[in-house]
Amino acid sequence: MIPSRLLVSAAFSVFCVIKVSSLDTFIAAVYEHAVILPNATLTPVSPEEALTLMNRNLDLLEGAIESAAKQGAYIIVTPEDGIYGINFTRELIYPYLEDIPDPQVNWIPCDNPNRFGHTPVQERLSCLAKDNAIYVVANIGDKKPCNASDPQCPPDGRYQYNTNVVFDSQGKLVARYHKQNLFMGEEQFDTPREVEMVTFDTAFGKFGVFTCFDVLFHDPAVALVKDFHVNTILFPTAWMNVLPHLSAIEFHSAWAMGMGVNFVASNLHNPLRRMTGSGIYAPDFPRTFHYDMKTQEGKLLLSQLDSHPYRPTVNWTSYASSIEALWAGNQEFKGTVFFDEYIFVELKGITGNYTVCQKDLCCHLSYQMSEKRSDEVYALGAFDGLHTAEGRYHLQICTVLKCKTPDVQSCGGSVDTAATRFEMFSLSGTFGTQYVFPEVLLSEVQLAPREFQVTSDGRLLSLQPTSRPVLTVTLFGRLYDKDGVSNASPNLAAHSLRVLLILIIPVVYLLCCSA
Ligand SMILES: *[C@@H]1O[C@H](CO)[C@@H](O)[C@H](O)[C@H]1NC(C)=O
Ligand SMILES: *[C@@H]1O[C@H](CO)[C@@H](O)[C@H](O)[C@H]1NC(C)=O
Ligand SMILES: *[C@@H]1O[C@H](CO)[C@@H](O)[C@H](O)[C@H]1NC(C)=O
Ligand SMILES: *[C@@H]1O[C@H](CO)[C@@H](O)[C@H](O)[C@H]1NC(C)=O
Ligand SMILES: *[C@@H]1O[C@H](CO)[C@@H](O)[C@H](O)[C@H]1NC(C)=O
Repeated sequence: MIPSRLLVSAAFSVFCVIKVSSLDTFIAAVYEHAVILPNATLTPVSPEEALTLMNRNLDLLEGAIESAAKQGAYIIVTPEDGIYGINFTRELIYPYLEDIPDPQVNWIPCDNPNRFGHTPVQERLSCLAKDNAIYVVANIGDKKPCNASDPQCPPDGRYQYNTNVVFDSQGKLVARYHKQNLFMGEEQFDTPREVEMVTFDTAFGKFGVFTCFDVLFHDPAVALVKDFHVNTILFPTAWMNVLPHLSAIEFHSAWAMGMGVNFVASNLHNPLRRMTGSGIYAPDFPRTFHYDMKTQEGKLLLSQLDSHPYRPTVNWTSYASSIEALWAGNQEFKGTVFFDEYIFVELKGITGNYTVCQKDLCCHLSYQMSEKRSDEVYALGAFDGLHTAEGRYHLQICTVLKCKTPDVQSCGGSVDTAATRFEMFSLSGTFGTQYVFPEVLLSEVQLAPREFQVTSDGRLLSLQPTSRPVLTVTLFGRLYDKDGVSNASPNLAAHSLRVLLILIIPVVYLLCCSA
């Protein structure tokens, strides 16, 4: 049987005479790649050595691309830094970079490899796309020479960009995106002068592209959905998991649901650096995901998606602002979640209704546990403020979480196993934003597909008892407008302390993207 995908690409090649009807669904693939890292070095390797290393990674990506195509995938996403690895300085990464032209040049590197100089990586990616008749999304490095005629030109005479490229099923370069929100320590790369809104159209919907840390910010991520109306986000990442709210599968699936788009996320696989967690997420529920801290292997995932997923509208404050505080007068306490100070109340009974507030945000919870264990404590927390460690971003968060130990002082610390299932939960908050990402994370860092929903009045509501014990149920809100608002001075001391901590023990809480 000829895969329908091949029929479609056949149809593409006679596009001029036959109008391709749009497709309602398509199969997407992601490959979580255990990247082969270069050996540590203090001096740059030769371009030949760099290419040898990149070809070893491309050999592995080739296997995944062929396998995905055979199984009917139309498009495959591979991770950020998946071809040359991580831990570079500006000089050390230079031999790995290629000049990547603007896709407007209309170029199939596989057919015309020398048109823009020496570009063996682009040629190989293009041939993989063409030979397998599949869209290939990859992350490589772009270099652009500059000189004194440009006052912003770096002293070494070139811009270097963390870059996503997309080749269509005929091998043509159709998208190039330079990462906007570089992560702390990603000093091998430059920030593009202007945010790039990169989209492309296909018979199976409109696609937008961005990278890793970008997902925490408004531009280009939110603008691609709100102003450019993309249906599916393609997301290469090198994401270090941070519990309770920023593990890869948890946050990326929540973004898909909160924004009402498909989100196709491919992470590096490097358990030592806590990098794992890839998936194919639709707005209603995750279609497939992978989280594996135990093996060193890569993993290919495939799933069908709707080309034009339905985007429901939610008023995130409607329900919460319509009700009175539930069961006021509980004993509140403070706890720290990833450097932010939350107000918590303990969930004392097997069932109950609670409210907790911080600044402008009040969070309401109704819940019923399957049992009230004496060896586990859960708490409801609220946070409204500017997060300043490893990036500045204003958050409003309502969260139910399992405390690390039965001591309430531990609430907010990272924990990845639990024993308490919930029969039901309903969480809502008086959010000052329409950008709220609903997270449900179960024991051993697993998602809960089809087990919960978001109602139009802004409640995160269980649909059935949880299939596993609960780590956290969270509404993660972003107030993008307030990111630039400067901190009051008392926080400066706290900030210096954080910076100090970061310098001393970086491995404990690096979050994301090729430190
Ligand atoms: C790193 O060095 C070792 C020993 O010289 C060698 O066997 C290995 O192939 C090198 N790895 C890479 C990625 O170059
Ligand atoms: C990162 O690179 C530096 C300098 O090349 C090296 O000393 C260090 O061992 C590398 N770290 C890792 C984790 O590879
Ligand atoms: C400086 O760069 C510009 C474009 O970036 C180029 O047109 C010009 O020829 C360069 N000048 C020199 C002296 O290299
Ligand atoms: C959301 O609901 C609140 C409370 O019912 C209402 O005041 C507000 O206008 C609504 N927001 C939007 C955008 O409809
Ligand atoms: C929580 O509130 C619901 C309705 O708002 C009520 O039916 C239930 O009895 C309350 N539970 C407790 C333990 O107060």
